[in-house]
Amino acid sequence: MCGIVGCVGQRRVAPILVEGLRRLEYRGYDSAGLAVIRPEGLSVFREVGRVADLARGLPDELEGSVGMAHTRWATHGGVSRKNAHPHVDATGRIAVVHNGIVENAPEIRSRLERDGIRFRSETDTEVIPHLIRTFYAGDPQQAVRAALQRLQGTYGIAVLFADHPDLLIAARNGSPLVIGLGEGETLLASDSQALVQYTRRVVFLSDGEVAVLSREGVDTTLLDGVRVDPAIQQLDEEWDVPDRGDWAHFMEKEIHEQPESIRRCLRGRVLAREGTAKLGGPDMTPRDLLGVGRVELLACGTSFHAATVGAMAIERLARVPASARIASEFRYRNPIVNRDTIFFAVSQSGETADTLGAVREVQTKGGEVLGIVNVVGSSLARACGRGIYVHSGPELAVASTKAFTSQVTALLLFTLLLARTRTLSGHEGRAVAEALLRIPDQVAAYLEDPGPVEAVADLVQHARYALFMGRGFSHAVALEGALKLKEVAYVPCEAYPAGEMKHGPIAMMEEGTPVVVVVPDDSVREKTLSNVQEVRARGARVVVVHSEGDPEAAAMGDLSIAVPRTLEILSPLLTVLPLQLLAYRTGVRLGRDIDRPRNLAKSVTVE
Ligand code: F6R
Repeated sequence: MCGIVGCVGQRRVAPILVEGLRRLEYRGYDSAGLAVIRPEGLSVFREVGRVADLARGLPDELEGSVGMAHTRWATHGGVSRKNAHPHVDATGRIAVVHNGIVENAPEIRSRLERDGIRFRSETDTEVIPHLIRTFYAGDPQQAVRAALQRLQGTYGIAVLFADHPDLLIAARNGSPLVIGLGEGETLLASDSQALVQYTRRVVFLSDGEVAVLSREGVDTTLLDGVRVDPAIQQLDEEWDVPDRGDWAHFMEKEIHEQPESIRRCLRGRVLAREGTAKLGGPDMTPRDLLGVGRVELLACGTSFHAATVGAMAIERLARVPASARIASEFRYRNPIVNRDTIFFAVSQSGETADTLGAVREVQTKGGEVLGIVNVVGSSLARACGRGIYVHSGPELAVASTKAFTSQVTALLLFTLLLARTRTLSGHEGRAVAEALLRIPDQVAAYLEDPGPVEAVADLVQHARYALFMGRGFSHAVALEGALKLKEVAYVPCEAYPAGEMKHGPIAMMEEGTPVVVVVPDDSVREKTLSNVQEVRARGARVVVVHSEGDPEAAAMGDLSIAVPRTLEILSPLLTVLPLQLLAYRTGVRLGRDIDRPRNLAKSVTVE
C-alpha cells in the first residue's frame, strides 16, 4: 500500500527519492508524487500511474537536497493527480505526505472550509497541511505536534516547511516509519527496503513520536514535547535490497529461495540431540510452556493458512487445543481471552491492520500475544514485544511464497518445543528434529525436478472453475494453492476439505473440470483417494500431488506430481511447492502482472 521516502542530505535528493519509491513499488500503488525544497520554495510533482511516469515528468537535474516522496494506494478519493500526495497548505509552503487514514477528516475539513480554506483534493490527507498551518507561528515541530493532537485515525507522515529548508519532520501513529542514519544525510521511509542501499543504521519510530530529521541525525519527542532517546539498530544483511538476478520475476526467485529461507529459519533453533527446539524470542521456560492450556493463532490470507497448519501441528503433536483465527473476524467477535491461552499473531509484513486490530483486542482483554513475523521492527513485532522472527528476508512479490514456508517452519519449531514438555519422548522429538533439518535439502531436490507443472498449468489456465482439495494438513495446503492461483493467474477456483466436497462442490464437476488433490502418504491418504474416485467418476481431470514412491496415488491422476517423503506434520512444506509453481506458471502463460497482481497490495494497512 502507500509508501513514503524522505531525505535531508547534501547531494541532489530527487534521484534518491525516485530510487526509494522504486524500491517500494512492490507494495502496490496507483499514483506517485514528490516534493523538494528549492531556493524559490517548495516544488511539488505528482502523477497517476507508475513511478517511472513521475520520474519522466521531473525537470532535468532537479535541484534541492531535502525532499520527500510518496506512492498512493487510493482509499479516500479516486485515482487522480489532484489526489496524489504531497498535499500543500493554502500558501504552498507546507507539504505533507501521509500513509493511513484520518478518521475525523470530514469534521476538520468542514471547520477549515468555514474559515475560508479552499480544498483542492478529495483526500483525508489534505486536512493535515491546512491544520498545521493554523498552528504555525515559526516553530515547525510545535505546529506539527499541535495539529496531530487534533487528528483521529492512523498516520505515518512526513512534513516539509519551505521556511525551514534543512529539516524534514516525521510522525507516526499506527503506520510504520523508519529513519536511516547515513553519512551527512538522514533518510526516512515507510519500509526499510527504501533505505538499506544507503545505510543499515536505523531507528524505528514508535507510535506517538515526532522526529525532526536534519543532516546531523534525528531528534525525537512525544506529542507532548517530552524528549525520547532514539534506539539505533543495525539491520541484518538478510534485509539488503534483493536483486532479481536471472529470474523472470521475484515470485519465481522467492519460490526457489525456499531451501535457504527455511534453513535460515531453522538455524540455531533445532536441538537435534535433545529432540527439541530453542527459541530465544518467546522467552518461555519449559515450566511456562507446561502452563499453556490453549493456543490461538491470529492471521490473514496466506499467513492464516500457515497458522492453520500450525494449529493442527500443535494439536496433533503437543495435544494442546489450538485454532487458527481470521484476524478480521476475530477482533469483532468479542473474543474470550483466558489466562492460560497464548496467542500468536502470524504476519509476514507485520503491518496488516486486521491482525494488529486483533492483537490490540486480545491485549485489551489482558491476553498475551507473541508475534510470528518476518519484517524486523514492524508494527506487529513491536506491539507483541516478543515472538519469533521467521527470517525469510525481504519478500517482494505480492503473492507470498517463501514467507509461508518460513511461518510454517517457525510454528513447527514452537510445536516441537511445546510437545517436548508434555507428549513427546526424547526419541520421538529427535525424529521430528531430524526430519525438520532434512526439509531444506528436500525442498531443493523437489525444485530441481518439479514434475509436470507446465502440463497442469495447461489444464487449469482456461478453466471456468477449478477445485483444490485435501484433508487435514493438506486442506490448508489446498487453501493456499487456490489462493495463489486466484491471486497470480485470476483463475476461478476454490479449496475444500476433500471429505466435504461431496456436500456441495461436487455439483460443479463436469467433463474436464480440473481438480488438484493434495494427498501425501499420511493418516488420511486412503480417505482422500476415495474422494478422488468420486470426482473422477464425474468427469474431473485429476492432478494428484503425492509422496514419492506411491504408485497407487500417482495412478489415480491424469497428471501426478511427486514430492519427497516426510512426516505428516511437515508435509505442507513440500506439498505446497508444486501449487506455488502452478500459480506462477499459469500466471505467466496468461500474461499476468506476476509480481504486482491487480488490486492487491503487499501489506494491507487498512481494515
Ligand atoms: C497472499 C498474501 C496475503 C497475505 C495477507 C496477510 O499471497 O500475501 O494473503 O498473506 O495479506 O499479510 P501479512 O502476512 O503481511 O500479515
